[in-house]
Amino acid sequence: MKTLVTGGLGFIGSETVVKLIEAGHEAVIVDNLSNSKLAVLDRIEGITNVRPRFYKIDLCNLDAITDVMEKERPEAVIHFAGLKAVGESVEKPLMYYHNNLLSTMNLLDAMRKFDCHNIVFSSSATVYGVPEHVPLVETDPVGHATNPYGETKVMIEHILMDVQKSWPELNVALLRYFNPIGGHPSGLLGEDPNGIPNNLMPYITQVAIGKRDHLRVWGNTYPTPDGTGIRDYIHVLDLAEGHVATLKKLAQNPGLVIYNLGTGKGTSVLEMVHAFEKATGVKIPYIIYPVRPGDVAENYANCDKAAKELGWKAKFDVVDACRDAYNFQKKNPNGIE
Ligand code: NAD
Ligand code: UD1
Repeated sequence: MKTLVTGGLGFIGSETVVKLIEAGHEAVIVDNLSNSKLAVLDRIEGITNVRPRFYKIDLCNLDAITDVMEKERPEAVIHFAGLKAVGESVEKPLMYYHNNLLSTMNLLDAMRKFDCHNIVFSSSATVYGVPEHVPLVETDPVGHATNPYGETKVMIEHILMDVQKSWPELNVALLRYFNPIGGHPSGLLGEDPNGIPNNLMPYITQVAIGKRDHLRVWGNTYPTPDGTGIRDYIHVLDLAEGHVATLKKLAQNPGLVIYNLGTGKGTSVLEMVHAFEKATGVKIPYIIYPVRPGDVAENYANCDKAAKELGWKAKFDVVDACRDAYNFQKKNPNGIE
């Protein structure tokens, strides 16, 4: 299927483009390079021997995305493009609402114009807010995200549902990712955050290569077995495959579908440190700090629906993901250059 991948040079988008090509799809990428590098395109080509067509456009420019849609006429869109830094979204909420909402609305406008009626959207576990119970299922209440970034995901889910109701031929998949980590086993693709990483895995890998002194563990007084926070870490390769499986599903014209993409298994911060040490042989010094405001104790997915309806299940564990994240970090100590 010819698929337009927005944000296709980013962390999850680039891995998904590789999987799409490997599965025999044609991928066309749009990205404004606000959080990615053009060199990622060379790396995708290095892995697949295919250089996808790339348009450097900002989705907030309606004319630009309309032109691409007219030229390419894709059958499906996978919409990764968006800003995703939680802390920055608290400081600059308008930037987040503007970029994430406008880009999605422009995209839908252009899709409608050229009758592209399949869209996969990168949503997040953050839409569940503070979970009342775990594991989370797709029918759990959504809303009251704890930050503007999360609110954009809640709002975009609503926009997509409303548009789908008004345009029944439109197939929409809302994929709620849990915590994506890892990288391509070649070491060519991986997570490349700007500045001090907020997320656990890139912080650990930077400690491992000596770029940071120690891991700051945000709290050990949660009601969890070792007191540290529990999350559902999913290897980005598994996540990428989930998108290929979702495209197959959309080809059956299901209308609106919603899936959690995680592993169904929770891992604590200290368990992750140990998994990393096991995978790499590198010791990670850590110090316990006070809890990070806005963090929840425990968050993991029930992924039965994706298993049943998509025939998809995560194959890798956190040890695999630690090995691949470290390999990427070692080969790219200063990120992708
Ligand atoms: P990323 O920042 O690596 O990739 C996003 C890409 O979108 C970047 O290459 C960026 O340059 C591009 N982009 C942003 N705004 C754009 C615009 N207006 N026009 C064109 N391109 C634009 O992020 P990622 O980790 O690959 O995440 C992909 C998607 O998945 C995002 O929507 C994110 O919110 C969502 N998500 C990510 C995580 C995670 O932990 N990484 C978790 C849940 C959901
Ligand atoms: C965070 C975001 C969430 C977003 C997700 C993926 C917050 C409050 N939530 O989720 O909205 O969808 O990233 O981008 O920012 N930890 C440490 N030390 C660190 C970093 C993290 O102990 O240096 C702990 C955290 O307290 C948490 C776990 O590791 O228990 C995972 O943290 P992180 O990777 O930031 O992901 P989330 O908090 O789940």
